Amino acid sequence: MRTKKSTYSDSHIQEDETHNSESISDDYAEDIVDKREQIEKEQKEDTVMNNTKESLTTISEQSQINDLTNLEIQDIEGIGPTTARKLREAGIFSVMDLAVAAVEDLAVDINASKESAASFIMASQKLLRESDVLDKEFITAETALKKRRSLLRCSTGSSMLDDLFLGGIETQAVTELYGEFGSGKSQICHTMCITAGQPIESGGLNSGVIYIDTEGTFRPERLEQISSTRSIDPVRALQNVAVCKVYNSAHLELIVKNLGKYIDDYKAKLVVVDSIISLHRAEFSGRGTLADRQQRLNSIMHKLLRISEIYNVAIIVTNQVQSAPDTFFGDPTKPTGGNVIGHASTYRVYLRKSGENRIAKMIDSPYHPYSEVRFTINEKGTDNLDEGKKSKKE
Ligand SMILES: Nc1ncnc2c1ncn2[C@@H]1O[C@H](COP(=O)(O)OP(=O)(O)OP(=O)(O)O)[C@@H](O)[C@H]1O
Ligand SMILES: [Mg+2]
Repeated sequence: MRTKKSTYSDSHIQEDETHNSESISDDYAEDIVDKREQIEKEQKEDTVMNNTKESLTTISEQSQINDLTNLEIQDIEGIGPTTARKLREAGIFSVMDLAVAAVEDLAVDINASKESAASFIMASQKLLRESDVLDKEFITAETALKKRRSLLRCSTGSSMLDDLFLGGIETQAVTELYGEFGSGKSQICHTMCITAGQPIESGGLNSGVIYIDTEGTFRPERLEQISSTRSIDPVRALQNVAVCKVYNSAHLELIVKNLGKYIDDYKAKLVVVDSIISLHRAEFSGRGTLADRQQRLNSIMHKLLRISEIYNVAIIVTNQVQSAPDTFFGDPTKPTGGNVIGHASTYRVYLRKSGENRIAKMIDSPYHPYSEVRFTINEKGTDNLDEGKKSKKE
């Protein structure tokens, strides 16, 4: 239809142009220019429509994948009705749930040996591979590249900050944001609650969001402000975000254990854990409990990483900093939680204040260059620096 419309306008312009050019008045010339602009606008709209169509195909492909994940536990090789019942009693209802389980936890939950637990998990992953939900054990680098190019990315709300992530925060990855108080960790998370709900062609994930708040700093009013100032309907935007206030470390572990189910329930493609460590840090404070704390954090982080890959979601965790008195050069702060958080995060970004602005630095990534960008926080949430102000200051 659109093509017809363009052809119609084209033919009119041609007709218009066949008039005696000398007799064309200024008004008439303006009319032609207007029509040209109209055609260009329509052509642009067509491109957007086509892009939207492509995005929709991606979403429908996604829902096909989701259908495949409705595979029954009993479809897994080596699992009979008794084990299936035990698994259900342990809160494992789908093949996806089993595929992201940790061996030790599963062995305890179903009262089986670690070897059996491991074999069930591996069998569930094998079934997901056969169903194309998980990658085959070996794929060519070319296929891997194609898959990476089709990864969804969510805008942070600032294109300057998006540049640090080469286009936004990736799905199938855990991104850790760490920095001192007020550095903007929670503000980025709040802004992304709004951007994630936006269509894919506008830098969103067209999805729901799960926000796990361990510090009591989630503010729905802020979401309202961010969406209104971005001309996004605040009512719909807020309906899109499922918040869970977590009170202790055991509660957090339970939420993470059942996260797959919540992701399905809320159709989420973004999960925020703000912050990952505060509860464990407060509860396991003595030196004697450090090993236990690290082991628990390790288990949470690995579970999050597996969930991000299997459910194709972006996971953001925030982390605090502690002073590192042994640092002689550079910033004498480092993320808390030691290597446990860092090793399991796919991307690690350091945030700090710089006057009114913020600086984000990519600290650890398998492929991003070691770079930093500036952004700001205002009523729109995270936002680009006002170039005018920036150049005045510099
Ligand atoms: N509505 C707003 N308009 C402008 N700036 C704001 C607004 N709300 C918050 N900020 C800025 O964001 C800062 C708080 O940032 P944020 O809550 O993200 O810190 P954080 O890194 O999560 O710190 P913490 O470690 O304490 O959780 C405030 O100090 C303020 O500068
Ligand atoms: Mg915070």
